[in-house]
Amino acid sequence: MESTDVQGDLAQVLVTEEQIHDKLRELARRIEADYEGEDLLLVGVLKGAVMVMADLSRELRNHVEIDWMAVSSYGNSTKSSGVVQIRKDLDTPLEGRHVLIVEDIIDSGLTLSWLLENFAARGAASIEVCALLRKPDAAKVEIDCRYVGFDIPNEFVVGYGLDYAERYRNLRDVAVLAPHVYA
Ligand code: XMP
Ligand code: MG
Repeated sequence: MESTDVQGDLAQVLVTEEQIHDKLRELARRIEADYEGEDLLLVGVLKGAVMVMADLSRELRNHVEIDWMAVSSYGNSTKSSGVVQIRKDLDTPLEGRHVLIVEDIIDSGLTLSWLLENFAARGAASIEVCALLRKPDAAKVEIDCRYVGFDIPNEFVVGYGLDYAERYRNLRDVAVLAPHVYA
């Protein structure tokens, strides 16, 4: 039988639930100021960004719309392939919109650089990125990310929307996965 001991699968908690919520509140105040008087389209990248979107969007007092995009570049492995495939496209035309992409994590940056190019071609008025986590040591392409929550070490993390093989998304903290789980 598969183990149900989730805590035993984690090596270390990197960012606690409380730290996440404090940071999102801080980012929300900056976003409100930067987009004052503008209608904002938040685009979440499924599935990892679900928790960030839920908590960040509820902190915002601007008029916002929310849309979702699903792309895949990972499968069940822990390394990015750089090959991005659209699994679910946006419902909203981007023409003339102020778009804020909401991401869980910037790892190699390959997914976002592809998305930024794709969105620019759709005629958005502006495109910015908000990512809860970023791994500076894993960057393969530089991403201009205006709102970053936490820079973290180059280790595979799970929780708060982030998964390994679809598990651990429901954890409240962000934690480093114990190597024995994917060894
Ligand atoms: P890239 O490398 O293209 O990564 O910047 C983009 C997507 O890969 C996933 N990702 C992770 N998922 N723990 C996860 O659970 C990680 O440490 C991790 N690093 C990358 C994530 O979906 C991200 O949007
Ligand atoms: Mg993601």
